[in-house]
Amino acid sequence: MPPPVESPRVVNIADLRRLAERRLPRAVFDYIDGGADAEVTMRENCRIYDDVILRPRNAVAIPQCDLGVTVLGRRLELPFLLAPVGSSRMFYPRGEEAAARAAGAAGTAYILSTLSGCMLEDVRAASSGPVWYQLYLVGGREVASGAIERARLAGFSVLAVTIDTAVSGLRERDGRNGTKELLGPSLGARLRFLPQFLVKPRWLAGFLGDGGLMSFPNVVIPGQGPMAYADVAAALEQSTVSWSDLRWIREVWRGPIVIKGVLTGDDARRALDEGAEALVVSNHGGRQLDGVSATLRALPEVVSAVNGRAEVLLDGGIRRGSDIVKALCLGARAVLCGRAYAYGLGAGGEVGVARAIGILRADLIRTLKLLGCAAVADLDPSYVEAPPAWSCRPSQAV
Ligand code: FNR
Repeated sequence: MPPPVESPRVVNIADLRRLAERRLPRAVFDYIDGGADAEVTMRENCRIYDDVILRPRNAVAIPQCDLGVTVLGRRLELPFLLAPVGSSRMFYPRGEEAAARAAGAAGTAYILSTLSGCMLEDVRAASSGPVWYQLYLVGGREVASGAIERARLAGFSVLAVTIDTAVSGLRERDGRNGTKELLGPSLGARLRFLPQFLVKPRWLAGFLGDGGLMSFPNVVIPGQGPMAYADVAAALEQSTVSWSDLRWIREVWRGPIVIKGVLTGDDARRALDEGAEALVVSNHGGRQLDGVSATLRALPEVVSAVNGRAEVLLDGGIRRGSDIVKALCLGARAVLCGRAYAYGLGAGGEVGVARAIGILRADLIRTLKLLGCAAVADLDPSYVEAPPAWSCRPSQAV
């Protein structure tokens, strides 16, 4: 039985985070919650929304709000999608399917990570809404081509290529929690880190009932089968995606391609030159290069470089509906939520994800009504005041 996630126990995303922390072993919770190095970028991703001030139009009656947006030709009922979050099956049994089901029920899209524990075909079948596939080149081109082909046949509509993962970022919390030792061959080294799992019997029962340590069924190594969990860091390091890969990816995929991990106008222009239909302004939730700019701060530069030639999405730090409103006002067509729903999944599986989505939806409606704006599609810069320096391109900044 999943724990209750309704009010008054849970009124915001921070409450879901607290419940996830209570239910999950430390190593699993910190894998979700943590970031790279000193976690400066991760914290700044959230804090920066405080720098943008809302400018309401009062005495405007709005009986009904339209939260719908069109992303790559498809209408979504909400202006946020569920971001690719690897290893979700560790958070809750069949975690990727649970999250996809909740997304579909809410009328939005779920993006499945290459590094997921559920078969992509099962995830597609779980959702009644659109499903995108996020691509890493782990295992090399042959392995990636196989997954792309499977995704196409299964009915995934968009391919999201993540470009900010040349190596895995240093997540210091993972080091302290013994992630390397736990996945290593030495039983002796592992023993020291096992108690954190034993003190979470509910999670442990679900984990064991779901087959124990997951492998990666969408990364099928020829002659070997699904890639083992322990091999992921080394595999990522050997599989850096580069611009030249975009050409063969396009030949294999043929559908819309989204480039995830753009932080500068230069990379945005390059992605468009390589034929991307949309970009995600993203720093991987502060999990990769620490010290890069918060995504909301990078958004105006990217929007200006793209100049209407592609759709610009954003992720990073979204914890409230008003965060989504601010990103949309500054030019994002929609946003991706990562931890906001991952906490829900860790707290209570599908109902936890549905609760996270419900909280953000209710926030959005309330914020729009208080702003005096009837539809997210009508949000524009006139509804916010951003720091003046944000409208400067770096070359113009003093
Ligand atoms: C991620 N993210 C991610 N991105 C990606 O392209 N492929 C992946 O496999 C993963 N895995 C992953 C695991 C976990 C636990 C987290 C928290 C994030 C990054 C994700 O898609 C997104 O960019 C960030 O999560 C956005 O920031 P917020 O919403 O978490 O602040």
